[in-house]
Amino acid sequence: MSSQINVREDLHDLYRRHGFSPGATYTGVMDKALAPGLSYGTAAFYGVTATILSSKRMIAYNLVQNSIDEAKGGSRIQLVADRYAPPDLQRKMKRHVGEELKHSKQFGELVPITGYRMEEVADNKPELIEEVLEFDDDLHAFICRVHSIEIRSWTVLRIYQQVLNERQFGEVADRALPVLDDIMQDEINHVVYTGQQLDEWLRSNEKPGLPDTLEECFAHTNRETWQDMSSMVAYLAKNYEVALELHPAAA
Ligand SMILES: [Fe+2]
Ligand SMILES: [Fe+2]
Repeated sequence: MSSQINVREDLHDLYRRHGFSPGATYTGVMDKALAPGLSYGTAAFYGVTATILSSKRMIAYNLVQNSIDEAKGGSRIQLVADRYAPPDLQRKMKRHVGEELKHSKQFGELVPITGYRMEEVADNKPELIEEVLEFDDDLHAFICRVHSIEIRSWTVLRIYQQVLNERQFGEVADRALPVLDDIMQDEINHVVYTGQQLDEWLRSNEKPGLPDTLEECFAHTNRETWQDMSSMVAYLAKNYEVALELHPAAA
């Protein structure tokens, strides 16, 4: 993987390996949604992530943040699954919930390998923009949003693996990489089952307007990630000496 990631091609490959060939509508929307300009496919995103992961303090911060996000994501899926999902999809969503809660625990358990405690880094967190769309009462739109987030998670996780494989912190990599491999299996499954569900709905055209919703969800997640990247860099601009441990003891 180079520092620039072609998410669209990687997704095609992933689906091919899983024997999944989506129809023309799904493929058309995704080809547009994952085109150049996709924040998390840029060399800039890779560079910011690699810079963040160059300090144990920021690795710890990132683990804490991931642990929180996984739990939040899981409970949102639980809510929608209980209220709106038909039995077959509900079963898959419940499994998804269990896996996100497991990831939350796994990320949390990795924090001590950085030498930091959760409370130490939680105080120094950058202010990330949190914009939640009110999709929770529309199952189709919700799955569109989840699909866009899962494709991002899968990509970000691959970046973590790549950066850790450069082995700046060998002992952290030794402990973290097997856990990330385990999480990766689930994230791939989340991308594939939500993609298959959307493809099925798009083929049957049971929800008019769904292609536009899917496109809007990807555009939203993309804008949100550009914004997160900007917040992260703004945080570094203010705090880089402490954040990147240039003067670890300074406070
Ligand atoms: Fe996850
Ligand atoms: Fe996931």
